[in-house]
Amino acid sequence: MKRLTVPAIQARKGKDPIVMLTAYTARMAQLLDPHCDMLLVGDSLGQVIYGLPSTLAVTLDMMCAHGAAVVRGSYHSVVVIDMPFGSYEASPEQAFHSASRIMAETGAAAVKLEGGEAMAPTVAFLSSRGIPVVGHIGLTPQAVNALGGYGARGKSNAEHAKILADARAIAGAGAFSMVIEGVLEPLARAVTEAVECPVIGIGASAQCDGQVLVVDDMLGMFERTARFVKRYDNLAGRIGDAAKAYAEEVRSRAFPGVEQTYLPKD
Ligand code: KIV
Ligand code: NA
Repeated sequence: MKRLTVPAIQARKGKDPIVMLTAYTARMAQLLDPHCDMLLVGDSLGQVIYGLPSTLAVTLDMMCAHGAAVVRGSYHSVVVIDMPFGSYEASPEQAFHSASRIMAETGAAAVKLEGGEAMAPTVAFLSSRGIPVVGHIGLTPQAVNALGGYGARGKSNAEHAKILADARAIAGAGAFSMVIEGVLEPLARAVTEAVECPVIGIGASAQCDGQVLVVDDMLGMFERTARFVKRYDNLAGRIGDAAKAYAEEVRSRAFPGVEQTYLPKD
């Protein structure tokens, strides 16, 4: 299977829904890749992989290491790497420096960054210099301290108008796609209709051009998740069951059995 391209993703607007999941490791990327159009190496790896309380402490080194693993494990999907907090906000030049390092070290096709109108010049700077950019608007987790939490956005008329303006700004600046997170359905619909690039929703209704979820959430790796997560499996329970069975067999000396034992040939 040949790898999809950024223009192929752009051309999906108004056609088939875009399928995106996060991935952080090579093996998971291998398993997800045949079923997805895009794989996102999200800075959600801070919580999911590293047990951090938010995405704020995620570093460029982490994103490059996991990004390279996901590119190595995939053949078909467009791989997008999140730019971590602090690596791009200061200036378009800082963003280019960080993004070019991500592209060079991982081989990914695109980066994603959070923000609206304030980030539009940065999106334009990167896009016009050969770095495809996915935007991220609505609930932007790197701004959790400013937003005061992870609640849904776009509830007031002012917030609705602001996020719609954010979408127009980054689309106008050349973002080839954008993620919209944690917004009321009418805002998701308005944004999807307002911009020419594909809008990928998470907690943003069925009105978008595609969907993304954190893979560990949809696999049921966590006890508690946001309302917008649908669990397609219960891996946490199944992993616990497997560990329990192993522990019992080690303690009862049922494992290893003859099949798992190297015996001398006689
Ligand atoms: O980091 C992440 O996983 C993301 C998705 C939730 C869109 O940004
Ligand atoms: Na993210």
